[in-house]
Amino acid sequence: MTVGYKAVGWNRQKKLYDGVVLAGLLLYLGAFVGAGLALSPKITIETLLIRAFGTGALFLLHVVLMIGPLARLDRRFLPLLYNRRHLGVITFSMGLAHGGFAIVQFHALGNVNPLVSVLTSNPRWDSLAQFPFQPLGLAALGILFLMAATSHDFWLANLTAPTWKRLHLAVYVAYGLVVLHVALGVLQHETHPILAAVLLVGLGVVGGLHLLAALRERRGDRNLAPAGDFVDFCALAEIPEDRAAIRSIGGERVAVFRHQGKLFALSNVCQHQNGPLGEGRVVNGCAVCPWHGYEYRLADGASPPPFTEKVPTFQVRVEDDRVLVDPKPHPAGTELEPARAERASDEADRDDFYIGYQKTAPPALAAWLRRVVVALLVLAVALPILLVSAQGEFADSYFEFGTVKEFEGRLAATPYPVLHVEAGSDSAPHLLVEFGKRGARDELRELDGRRVRASGQLIRRDPLRMIELTAEAPALLDGVTGGGGPSSLGRQTLTGEILDSKCYLGVMKPGRGKPHRACAARCISGGIPPLLVVADGGGDLRHLVISGEQGEPIGSKLVHLVAEPVTVRGEVVTLDGLLYLRAAAADFQRVAGAGESSD
Ligand code: HEM
Ligand code: FES
Repeated sequence: MTVGYKAVGWNRQKKLYDGVVLAGLLLYLGAFVGAGLALSPKITIETLLIRAFGTGALFLLHVVLMIGPLARLDRRFLPLLYNRRHLGVITFSMGLAHGGFAIVQFHALGNVNPLVSVLTSNPRWDSLAQFPFQPLGLAALGILFLMAATSHDFWLANLTAPTWKRLHLAVYVAYGLVVLHVALGVLQHETHPILAAVLLVGLGVVGGLHLLAALRERRGDRNLAPAGDFVDFCALAEIPEDRAAIRSIGGERVAVFRHQGKLFALSNVCQHQNGPLGEGRVVNGCAVCPWHGYEYRLADGASPPPFTEKVPTFQVRVEDDRVLVDPKPHPAGTELEPARAERASDEADRDDFYIGYQKTAPPALAAWLRRVVVALLVLAVALPILLVSAQGEFADSYFEFGTVKEFEGRLAATPYPVLHVEAGSDSAPHLLVEFGKRGARDELRELDGRRVRASGQLIRRDPLRMIELTAEAPALLDGVTGGGGPSSLGRQTLTGEILDSKCYLGVMKPGRGKPHRACAARCISGGIPPLLVVADGGGDLRHLVISGEQGEPIGSKLVHLVAEPVTVRGEVVTLDGLLYLRAAAADFQRVAGAGESSD
């Protein structure tokens, strides 16, 4: 009798499995980043990584969900099921990397806790197009975490297999949440039909495989009524040597195995993870579960020592070449007399039975598995290239991160601090902001109208300029230069999008639209000057810095309206080379049903 099995410990097959998965992931991430840099050179590395990890996690989630039905439809996929839990943990890790990067990028360095920001920065729970998609991702990540944390057999043993299985069915909830996260999030901004098609194909394949497997199972799941002492189970000829026939008796699945001229009936439900024991094979006198190789002795349904799992046994008889089974289960581990039957002549095909803890897989199966792995690796390279090539153009906007320069000029403090840089090619008004999601510090107001030298990193998107100041206080310089007064261009009605100027001018890409909405809300709450971006009839963009009717800052009153189309009537004013819109917060209205234009 085999006592050498250890389904959960590390072994060669598991190491091979994990190695292939990690190689596939590296290929996927490498192809995404490589294709991203080649095809979208204006993208930022942060966005590239967020997208690479997010789509990678969703790709893996599809693989995890497809393995179950594939293994039910074709037993050659069973080896993929052997280590599926590691695949689940790796999926969670990818989701965590994506969610972690997204939280740092869009929610950190603001005026509220980043997790609170994920849940509250977009308040549009009333709109499908504007629906807060990031909390859906957070909920999915929470579920994937619970499943990864309880994936060890310690939890399986303590929770019991049925409860553990029920808990792990939550993977379908996580999948649904991620699909909504993507459909209501990035797909509202990245509108190339290929991207929506990829999501739909994934959904269709996962749903279709589950439906097919369920139909197949239902057809094969002949339920026998438990009438009388013994029920007619099947014809003897239906059970090959060292294999089993499976039937439901009054809703309970029973497997009758044939081995060396004897018949044995056991519960079909493996005690490990409720795997279909009867789809396994007899090896050394034990029924071996096809999922992870747990073994049960045919005579009494008990695992060979030192293992302790046991399944119920059933009395079985043969009459006139029919197999009869007593529907009353005997307590798990009860030894029963087997029924006699002649040994089946044809030995079951031994070449397709995979036992994960054995050193090697049967050669024919291994060759087939190699082809499946190659196909998956090809997909891991082709899919990111397809996704990257379908993403939209990124703006000509730049953040000279890491290059600190000095700028000299006159500082104007209201409504938002601006440095009117005097010299050289950079002679232009530069909006001033701080590190993170914060507007310029209040002390700058005392320097209103003075010449100063300030140091910081340039942010630019033509025709606008901005400086992210260093912590060093600007130095006062001699001399004065006068600024002009405001000049009114009259009251106008404008339709456009309210954005935070810092991200839009180059710190993030996309720095506008639905994916960026929560970040824009945080930036504007933190005092970053809000911009109204208006496309004129010819498609050119006009950028107006938004202030109140008296030229005071009003960003915090507009946070609920960011990143979606609004219309406003107010006074347009030019002042020292910048265009301002003066309006009361109440003058801004949402434009019902309007879509968004690309970055
Ligand atoms: C804390 C949890 C999460 C947050 C805050 C979050 C945030 C985001 C954000 C901001 C985007 C749009 C980024 C862009 O402009 O491209 C996005 C997109 C996406 N997310 Fe998440 N996400 C979370 C969890 C997840 C999880 C668990 C998955 C998958 C298992 C996932 C899969 C995706 C995918 C496939 C995309 C589209 C690709 C992309 O745009 O990056 N997300 N997520
Ligand atoms: S061995 Fe894991 S379910 Fe049977």
